[in-house]
Amino acid sequence: MIRLDKFLCEMEIGTRSQVKEMIKKGQVSVNNEVIKKADYKFDENSAKVCVKEKEISYQKFYYYMLNKPAGVVSATTDNHDKTVLDLLKDAPGKDLFPVGRLDKDTEGLLLITNDGVLSHNLLSPKKHVDKTYLVKTAETVTLDMIHALEQGVDIGEEKITLPAKVKLLEEKEIELTIMEGKFHQVKRMLKAVGNEVVYLKRLSMGSLILDEALNLGEYRILTEKEVDDLKKDKQE
Ligand code: URA
Repeated sequence: MIRLDKFLCEMEIGTRSQVKEMIKKGQVSVNNEVIKKADYKFDENSAKVCVKEKEISYQKFYYYMLNKPAGVVSATTDNHDKTVLDLLKDAPGKDLFPVGRLDKDTEGLLLITNDGVLSHNLLSPKKHVDKTYLVKTAETVTLDMIHALEQGVDIGEEKITLPAKVKLLEEKEIELTIMEGKFHQVKRMLKAVGNEVVYLKRLSMGSLILDEALNLGEYRILTEKEVDDLKKDKQE
């Protein structure tokens, strides 16, 4: 159940005072009945709400994929740097946030949503959701390095990293799939094997794959299937 004024604000119909005014003027109906009380409560999942006779379709959660460019930070606000949310300024949805972090210099797939449960499931260390990165390195990637990454390396945490998957693409380029998300993990893993990351891009997270049609800094709404598949990823 939700208050009518709160519902209209969440649907971005107007500010709290604007929507209260609309309600007072009799411009809002719930299930075909004009409601003039801002604190009127109803079930937002089943009710038909109209404003000036136009039906408002109810959407609580929003899901976007962003192709994050380098130079922006994975935060909701920042005093110095541009944030990923600055790139989604015009996107509908309240309380959006990035699911996890990419470093300022990392590019690629970032899921942005206001669905806390999905975010929690994807980030939970217990769930081991795969994340795949395109990694360009300063030095040649040797077989020894690949084997070490596949087995787990010491990045100064309590335990060595979980086994990763490595696909060698070029002499100095790999696709690396990890199941954890420790701070600077990929950079620390490459350092642990005596190499260095010079370029990093996330290609996928769980079932969600970066849409290569998105230029850096562009975003799009996830399809229903993408959202459903993500929700199925590693459910408890
Ligand atoms: N690992 C890193 O080192 N940086 C990222 O941005 C993501 C994974």
